[in-house]
Amino acid sequence: MILKSLHLKNFRKFQNILLEFPDGVTGIIGLNGAGKSTLFEAVAWALYGPVAARTSSDQIRREGADIKDCCKVELEFIFGDDNYKVTREITGKNLTSSASIMVNGSLLATGSEIVSSYIQKKLGMDYKSFYTSIFAKQKELNALSTMKSSERRPLILRMLGINSLDSIITDIRSDIKQISQTIEQNEVEIIDNNGISKDIIFNKQLKKAQDDKKTILKDINEIKNSIKNEKQTYSTLKHQMDEHKKIYEKTQKHKDEILEKKALYEKKQQLEKNIIHIKTKVKEREDSLQIYNQKLKLFSKLNQEIIDLKKNKDTNKKILQEMVKKIEECKNKEKFAEKDIKNLSLRKNKIETLGPQAKCPTCERILNDQFETLLKFYNQEINQKQNEIKIIQKNKNELEKQFDKISKQKNALDKKQSYLHTQLIQKEKLLTQISELKKEIENEQISILNKQKDLQKIIDVKFDEKQYQSIKNNIQKTYSTYQLSIKTVNEVQKKLEKLKIRVEKIGGEKNLITQQIQQLKIKIVEQKSLKEKIEKQKRHLQNLKMLKELMISFRIHIISQIRPVLSLYASNLFEPLTDGKYSLVELDENYNIFIYDNATPYPIERFSGGEEDLANLCVRLAISEIITQQAGSLFQFIILDEIFGSQDDIRKQNIIRALNSFSLKYRQIFLITHIEEIKNFTENSVYVLEEENDISTIKMN
Ligand SMILES: Nc1ncnc2c1ncn2[C@@H]1O[C@H](COP(=O)(O)OP(=O)(O)OP(=O)(O)O)[C@@H](O)[C@H]1O
Ligand SMILES: [Mg+2]
Repeated sequence: MILKSLHLKNFRKFQNILLEFPDGVTGIIGLNGAGKSTLFEAVAWALYGPVAARTSSDQIRREGADIKDCCKVELEFIFGDDNYKVTREITGKNLTSSASIMVNGSLLATGSEIVSSYIQKKLGMDYKSFYTSIFAKQKELNALSTMKSSERRPLILRMLGINSLDSIITDIRSDIKQISQTIEQNEVEIIDNNGISKDIIFNKQLKKAQDDKKTILKDINEIKNSIKNEKQTYSTLKHQMDEHKKIYEKTQKHKDEILEKKALYEKKQQLEKNIIHIKTKVKEREDSLQIYNQKLKLFSKLNQEIIDLKKNKDTNKKILQEMVKKIEECKNKEKFAEKDIKNLSLRKNKIETLGPQAKCPTCERILNDQFETLLKFYNQEINQKQNEIKIIQKNKNELEKQFDKISKQKNALDKKQSYLHTQLIQKEKLLTQISELKKEIENEQISILNKQKDLQKIIDVKFDEKQYQSIKNNIQKTYSTYQLSIKTVNEVQKKLEKLKIRVEKIGGEKNLITQQIQQLKIKIVEQKSLKEKIEKQKRHLQNLKMLKELMISFRIHIISQIRPVLSLYASNLFEPLTDGKYSLVELDENYNIFIYDNATPYPIERFSGGEEDLANLCVRLAISEIITQQAGSLFQFIILDEIFGSQDDIRKQNIIRALNSFSLKYRQIFLITHIEEIKNFTENSVYVLEEENDISTIKMN
């Protein structure tokens, strides 16, 4: 793998830069905090995502960048024969992360996690191994030297990936524990509480269940035979019962017919009786009718009499009215005459009182000698009027006598009228009675005719009481026989039902026991397979135990093998770097570094600070070399972050020279440093510059 280019947008201190990675040794030069390490952090972030960043994702976007600006890294690299372009970005307020990967210009995958896992698979290492192998971090070298030996050993083993053997051994141990527990649990499943093997118990139970089933089947057969016999009996008895039923029904029908005849016969008798009775009644009514007709003759003149009476009454009434009129006239005349007498007497008395000096009532002259004449006149007049009254009174009396007489005649006529009215009522009553009688006679004659018609229909009906009684007795007998046969049939039927219920019950028991047998068979098979499984698990356990031993030995072997190789690689670097002063670096079992001085190994503390740093660098580079070799030397670049530490100028030059000689192993070596003179010793320089607005840029040289 070699790096081609890196395009950063709003990534930490960088707003927008494009870095093209050259081959050979490249110095990445800049002041503290300028953003040098950030460049390679961006490489790791593009490849592995958030896990490879120094901080959480919310701190990656450039401070001061707008929320709308995306934070984006585009990394182009070559792996094998292919060109890869990985793009990863964070956008928006919610820091939505996305990624994509293109191979030779075609899109291969998208999605933050998908891209990360694709890279991990493709490069054959996770981000931790990536850092360990090709990224010697600036704090790492110091750590190597200041660590206690108990810490250094696991760190170096971890860097070399040998710790993965530890985790494999731990996994095998946990597998052994788990499988041992499973075997224990399974072994509990194949024995009962008394320690007896369950398959023996199940086999015994199976034998017993099979024997029980045989007995049940025998019982079922016996009951089925009984049912067969009872069914035959039932069918014979049923046939008999049907015969008895037929006889009974026939007799019953005969009885019904006779009963019908009996009813008709009784009806016939009743009709004959009724006809006689009605005829008698008709006769009686006809007699009555004759009597009524005789009586009616008595009223033959009644109508004429009523007409005559009416005429007489009208005449009488007229006469009476005229007489009343005349009497009234007489009375009026009498009244007028009396009034005249009174007036005459008053005038006479007045003149008599005044004497001859009285004035004439007509001419108003004094009467004198006319006085006596006038008195005489008055007296004559009064007498005449009195005579008139007498005549009137005589007439009036005469009229009143006649009136009384005619009034009496009227009373007689009224009485007669009342009598004739009573007669008329009697006549009408008689007529009504006659009409009703006639109607009744007519109805009764119709009734006689109808009854005679009805009678005619059944006139030939005969009824034999003796025959009827004999059938009555017979029906009693046939009914008893029929009932008896029903009872017998029912008894057999009940017996049959009981047998069927029993056969069903035993059938249920049979099913139950068949089920038990099936379950036992399943259990026996289960026990067998469980035993086989335990055997298999035991074999597996054996293998795992062997594997564990093997892995432990392998780990010891690897560790023992890798230490001399590591010492060799480190020595190969250390010798030229110290201009041959020290030729050998050695690591003991605890990975403590020893440096040989004149063929004598001394612990690292014996040497100067610069020599100590150099020895650590050589060990670190040796670790990288081993890992790179393990990965098939596919990684052709290495990043060394601030490795010069306390080295003097000659050492620095030596280190760079040694690194240049590394170009066979690494096509790209990136040296991150704040020491500007380094530029004089490297093929390429990239300056990382912090500008006044806190934004960093780069400059190639
Ligand atoms: N999101 C961010 N926006 C702006 N600046 C940031 C952001 N995150 C980190 N920084 C700054 O980036 C700088 C760290 O950069 P880096 O570690 O790359 O520096 P360096 O050049 O490697 O320094 P040294 O030589 O000390 O190792 C720090 O000053 C830090 O405050
Ligand atoms: Mg740094």
